[in-house]
Parts: sequence; structure tokens; C-alpha cells
Amino acid sequence: MKDNIKVLVEEKDLQKRVSEIAAQISKDFEGESVLLVCILKGSVFFTADLARYITIPVMLDFMSVSSYGNGTESVGEIRLKHDLDDGIMGKNVVIVEDIIDSGNTLHFLLKILGERRPKALKICTLLDKPSRRKVDIKVDYTGFEIEDNFVVGYGMDYAQEYRALPYIGMLDS
Ligand code: IMP
Ligand code: MG
Repeated sequence: MKDNIKVLVEEKDLQKRVSEIAAQISKDFEGESVLLVCILKGSVFFTADLARYITIPVMLDFMSVSSYGNGTESVGEIRLKHDLDDGIMGKNVVIVEDIIDSGNTLHFLLKILGERRPKALKICTLLDKPSRRKVDIKVDYTGFEIEDNFVVGYGMDYAQEYRALPYIGMLDS
């Protein structure tokens, strides 16, 4: 861990924003329950905190996808690595992502989950880099919009490192 990390969003601002999004989701689905679909691995901490701040009944399920390519640029060809344990027909589903870049991952997820006929299908992302978008995606809940920088922490990695940082940082080279 010799790289320098510059703090972009500190822990208390992160937690405040996550609790605000949780309040919004609780309000939008008041009197019902919600299924959070955590996209592994980057969304684990975000999903865990969100679930604990939400005040309506919450269920959790997990999915894992990968994009073909060299690892730094998403090439638009997404592969499902691990599917949900249970069906989502008739459920209020919120896909929880760490960050939207090109939009290819969410485009793929919306297509395959939409075909399973959930009652509602929403997108929640902690971070969004709108300047990088290649596919148009309607995002329902966004934590922070950021510029085109590579970020780590709070679930996000660089070569599998830094996921456990409690804040969002930028690699300073
Ligand atoms: P998209 O399919 O191009 O929207 O890519 C989204 C995925 O790329 C995210 O779920 C992350 O796994 C990864 N990603 C994009 N930008 C970053 C970043 O700055 N740090 C860490 N992972 C990133
Ligand atoms: Mg991801």
C-alpha cells in the first residue's frame, strides 16, 4: 500500500448521503418492502449501510458481473458471473451499484432483470461519472456526481486493494 490516497469524500459526508438516499427509498416504497440487489464486489459496504438506514422491510440478494476487456476500460460486453438466489417477479427491486462509468453494466443488468417482471426496478449508485457515459441510463438515486477520476475505497478497488477504506479516495500518482 505505497500509493498516496487523496480523500475525495470523507466518511461522515459519505454516511450522511447514504442515510439521505435510504430515507428517500423508504419514502418511495412506504408501506411495502424492498429488495436490494448488491452488485459484487464494489457495492458491498454501500449496500450494507443503505440496508441498515432504510426503515421499511429490506431483503438482500447478490449478483456478480464482469466485462470482457483489459480491465481498465469497459468494452460493453458483459458476462453474468453469479446470478441472484431467488426470483424477483412482483418485487420492488433496487439495483445497488458503486459507480456508473460507461453505463454498460447497468444497461445489461436492467435488461436481464427487467425480463423477470419485477413490480419496480430502480437504480441506485453511490457515484456517477456522467462525462464517461456511452449508454443512456436513467438513474433513480445518486450519491455524488464526480469528475473522470479513478476512485477507490468504500468497496471500490484498484487491483483488489483499498476496498475497506471507510472513505472515497483518489489515487495520487
Ligand atoms: P460501466 O459498465 O462502464 O458503467 O462500469 C461500471 C463498473 O466499472 C463499476 O461497477 C466499477 O466496478 C468499475 N469502475 C468504474 N470506474 C471506477 C473507478 O473509478 N474506480 C473503481 N471502479 C470503477
Ligand atoms: Mg462494480
